[in-house]
Amino acid sequence: MSSFKTLSGIPEELFLEFMKEALVPVETLIDRVSNLANISAFLFDWLDSVNWVGFYLYEDGKLKLGPFQGEPACQAIENGRGVCGRALMEKRYFNVPDVSLFPGHIACSDKSKSELVYPILREDMSVIGVIDIDSPILSRFSEDDVRLLQRVSEIVKSFF
Ligand code: SME
Repeated sequence: MSSFKTLSGIPEELFLEFMKEALVPVETLIDRVSNLANISAFLFDWLDSVNWVGFYLYEDGKLKLGPFQGEPACQAIENGRGVCGRALMEKRYFNVPDVSLFPGHIACSDKSKSELVYPILREDMSVIGVIDIDSPILSRFSEDDVRLLQRVSEIVKSFF
């Protein structure tokens, strides 16, 4: 596997290729956990100006904290609560330019100013979880970032 330190500034296609190379075939729960851990580490390293990248996984009617990079975060999010809970409930992504203006936003860190949450859905539209990325700057996320997370969600879906 390539060193994470070489990832900064490389094109998206190459980044995704390196990331996919690092993933293991999934046979057990721990294989899934290690893949999600590496995906969050890859994204955290490659993306500029982000302070949190991680997964919340759906279980027992709520989202539970999965592998992530960044400061400790809240461990359970109810359906419909915060940006993540809205993405779960509405099964769509949320690109929030200013979290202070998002009703019900759950502030895990004072550093987070903007946020992008993308749902991971099975073919039958049931929810596996969400990918959540926070930035310390306002309006950090673009449509390109949305497309990137769409591609990452497809990769994650393939091992659930
Ligand atoms: N801000 C999120 C909570 C998770 S943290 O950002 C890591 C939300 O409102 O759902």
